[in-house]
Amino acid sequence: MKASMKKQANNFQMARSFHMVCVVAMAKNRVIGDGNDLLWQLPGDLKRVKQLTMGCPLIMGRRTFDSIGRALPGRLSVVMTRDKRWRADGAVPVASLAAAIDVAKDWLIEQKLGENRIILFGGGQIYKAGLPYCKTIEATFVDAEPSVGVKFPAFNSRAWNDKLLQQFAAEGDMPGFSYHHLTRKRDALSLN
Ligand SMILES: NC(=O)c1ccc[n+]([C@@H]2O[C@H](COP(=O)([O-])OP(=O)(O)OC[C@H]3O[C@@H](n4cnc5c(N)ncnc54)[C@H](OP(=O)(O)O)[C@@H]3O)[C@@H](O)[C@H]2O)c1
Repeated sequence: MKASMKKQANNFQMARSFHMVCVVAMAKNRVIGDGNDLLWQLPGDLKRVKQLTMGCPLIMGRRTFDSIGRALPGRLSVVMTRDKRWRADGAVPVASLAAAIDVAKDWLIEQKLGENRIILFGGGQIYKAGLPYCKTIEATFVDAEPSVGVKFPAFNSRAWNDKLLQQFAAEGDMPGFSYHHLTRKRDALSLN
């Protein structure tokens, strides 16, 4: 991009308000996975994640990308890694959260769809780095308590308004779970 165009894009970017939204499914003890994969398969979860994320850039860790195994269609996979040689089809590797946010914002501007959401997609390391920037969390709370696993970072639930959206009872081997929309009572860190 030419310097003048880049400056113009930067000015536009400054004027535009972007939001980071965390999408996560966690157990009662905040466990989100075993390090390689998820620990449960919830009916409707893939559909819900698709609805929440379509048309948005996803910021994720290299381990989470590997566990999914491919770039998700209709979204941009921005993958954080410290490995300068890491490449995968359809994914944009970045070396820091700041770089991930810049790539995500540039992509949203290029899409010209008016979408302002950047999705914090996990896993544990990336949730920890990005949660202070999130204004909202779209959470699935799972009625399970796995003894080991990667955890979502500890957060003060009193700092968030918690709206229960939908609740599902346990069935057979499947634990009960519920969808929540959490909004931060105070401002998140700025993305600009
Ligand atoms: N339940 C859910 O909603 C949910 C969502 C997503 C993931 N998960 C689960 O979470 C687990 C994976 O989480 P995880 O914490 O082990 O790994 P992760 O956060 O997905 O990825 C960690 C990797 O990201 C890179 N990284 C981390 N911080 C970085 C930084 N500051 N700058 C540059 N790169 C950085 C490093 O990659 P390199 O090693 O390549 O340098 C690091 O090894 C899996 O079990 C997955 O299934 C669950």
